[in-house]
This record gives sequence, structure tokens and C-alpha cells, in this order.
Amino acid sequence: MNEMRSPDTLASEPHGATVEPYVRVKDLTVRFVSREATVKAVNGVSFDLDKGQVLCVIGESGSGKSVMMRSLLRLHPKKRTVIEGSMRVGADEITSVSDKKMSELRGSTISMIFQEPMTALDPLYTIGDQIAETVMRHEKIDRDAAWKRALELLELVRVPSPERRLKAFPHELSGGLRQRAMIAVALSCRPSILLADEPTTALDASVQIQVLVLLRKLQREMGMSMIFVTHDLGVAAQIADKVAVMYAGRIIEYGEARDVLMHPQHPYTKAMLSSTVKDQDKGKPLEAIAGTPPDLRALPDGCSFAPRCKYAGPDCKVAMPDPLIDGRGHMVRCSKVRVMGGLLMFDEGMARPETALEPA
Ligand SMILES: Nc1ncnc2c1ncn2[C@@H]1O[C@H](COP(=O)(O)OP(=O)(O)OP(=O)(O)O)[C@@H](O)[C@H]1O
Ligand SMILES: [Mg+2]
Repeated sequence: MNEMRSPDTLASEPHGATVEPYVRVKDLTVRFVSREATVKAVNGVSFDLDKGQVLCVIGESGSGKSVMMRSLLRLHPKKRTVIEGSMRVGADEITSVSDKKMSELRGSTISMIFQEPMTALDPLYTIGDQIAETVMRHEKIDRDAAWKRALELLELVRVPSPERRLKAFPHELSGGLRQRAMIAVALSCRPSILLADEPTTALDASVQIQVLVLLRKLQREMGMSMIFVTHDLGVAAQIADKVAVMYAGRIIEYGEARDVLMHPQHPYTKAMLSSTVKDQDKGKPLEAIAGTPPDLRALPDGCSFAPRCKYAGPDCKVAMPDPLIDGRGHMVRCSKVRVMGGLLMFDEGMARPETALEPA
């Protein structure tokens, strides 16, 4: 008998004592509506995150990772976006707080680091001005104190010659230093949750590692929660407490990092991991899965991965499987998975042998 529970029961595990997680996203759906079409970019996403925890979100391009992150800051254009479900951060429900409260929360409680620092840094202002302005917008603090904080922050993110860099404009810094400056801006009001959207992909490999190590260190020291989007499963393995795998707007596998990465159950997660192992030397992680994701304007009735899944049978084309969760909080959406002995097990017997996944 399958053990069917909704992902939000995770928070009350394992001893029955209910501890509210710091962040709870439940049944989040984001649609972009235009005259031509409706794009369902995020589709019933749920996850919990405790203070100080790191959730890594992984998935192919277009799977809804950035849309989900931007929803937490309410950055989507109001007119064309329909958001359903709930996003609670601390005591605040992001879907219903006032615009004034939302702009207070942005930067002070929830902060974001973007993939390309030049889109987040203003080219017309010095790094020092940008940090000081951010601090003064959120705290009762004068310009001198704000500049002092800016200097401390540049020291914290290990920018060499920080006094000089405070007076530099973004284009005067290297890519790595710009990314560090953006981290300094993001941390300037000591947020409780940091959203990092592929923050190192634009950087050279060696700089990527330095920035990643720094971020992880700061996240630990400041006790921040972090949601970290990455294409790189090696990065996820290094920094994640929890992993969510997104496919076509849905989380199709979720749980403790070691469960998802060491014992993946969904054929998509498995294929992604094997393609990463195969391609890691070439530095191209997720591209080796045959086929393309579905059109988000017209999702198929069944499992959205079924058209690419070599295990898929006729039942997979009927309806998207409900989340199945084991006793460790490992969740998967795949009709070929069962709970056996309290753990999720991909049931080889359920998969038609002639359609078994070819070795990657
Ligand atoms: N404002 C918008 N209007 C319409 N569609 C949008 C909008 N923003 C994003 N989308 C669509 O939503 C889907 C998810 O996009 P998203 O940017 O979240 O993907 P992603 O997982 O972050 O991909 P990547 O790894 O390439 O950054 C895509 O199909 C994208 O085209
Ligand atoms: Mg993105």
C-alpha cells in the first residue's frame, strides 16, 4: 500500500512534535497570462526550510527555478501574473502582505543574488554608494555609519583593498569582484533568507569555487537560510541540506540532500545524475538527457516527464502522480516508485523491461 501524504506533513516529523519551519511554501502556482497564451511556469510547488538550512533547487533550463525564486520577492509584474498557494517566511505571508511591507522585507529579511551581477548593480553608482543606500533604506543609520558598514561588508566578502573598491563603479571591477560586491549588497541588512540564483555560473571555474566557499561560510556564520539554484549537482552535493529537483514547473523529487543525490528515485533525477557523472570532465552537467521538456503553455495530461522517460507505461500518460513520501521525508512523483520498509524504492518490476532506461 502506498504511503500518500502531502509534503507539508514533513515539518511535524519525526517525533510528532510540530516545529514550524522558518519558510513554508505550499502549493505555489505561478501563471503568466497574455492574450496569446497562459504559461504555467510553477505548478503546485511545496517545500519547507528551517533557519540556517540550505535548499538547492536543480533542474534543466526553463523548469521554473528563477520564477519560483522571484515569486518569493514578489518581483513578477502584477498585471500579467496569477499567483496561487502560499509562501510564508517567518510570520509573513508573501502572497498577501502590503506593498509597503513587501519592500521592507526585500533586502532586510529576504535578499537575492542574481546570476549576472551587472543586472543587479547600478552602473551609475559606486559600490560604496549602493551598499550604503541599501542599508539606509532599511535602517535608521546616517551616511557615515552606512559607509562604515559598507567597508566592513567588503572586508567580509574578501574584496582586496576594500577602501579603494568602495569608490569604484561596477564596470571597474572584475567579474569575481562584482559578484562579491553583489553578495555584499545582498548581505548588507543581514537577511534571514538569501536567494542565490545560479550566483556563480558567470564566473571562471576557480573563482566559482572561491565564491561558493565564501557564500557557504557566510551563510553558516550568519545563520541564514539559503535557497540556491544551480545546474551543477556537484555544487548541490557540497552545500545542500535539502535538494528539490524541478521539472516543467513541478518539484518531482525532494528531500535530504544525501537521500536525493545518493538514492535518487525519479528517472529524471537518475538520468541527470548519470549525465553529470558522464560529463563532469567536460563541464556540461545537464544536457545529456534525450528529448525536450514539455511546452508550459500546453502541459500533457500525465506525468510531464513521461514523453522522455524510458520507463513510462500507459498509466504514466493519464495523470501526474501524487507526491509519495517515505518515513525520512524523501518525496517523489513517479508511479513506478513504492514505499518499501519505510523507504522509497523504484519498482523495477513495474517498469516494462523493453522500455528500461538505457545506460547513460
Ligand atoms: N515574465 C514571463 N512571462 C512569460 N513567461 C515567462 C516569464 N518569466 C519566465 N517565463 C517562462 O517560465 C518558464 C520558467 O522560466 P525560469 O526562468 O524560471 O526557468 P529556469 O528554471 O530559471 O531556467 P534557467 O536554468 O535557464 O535559468 C520558461 O518557460 C520561461 O520562458
Ligand atoms: Mg533561471
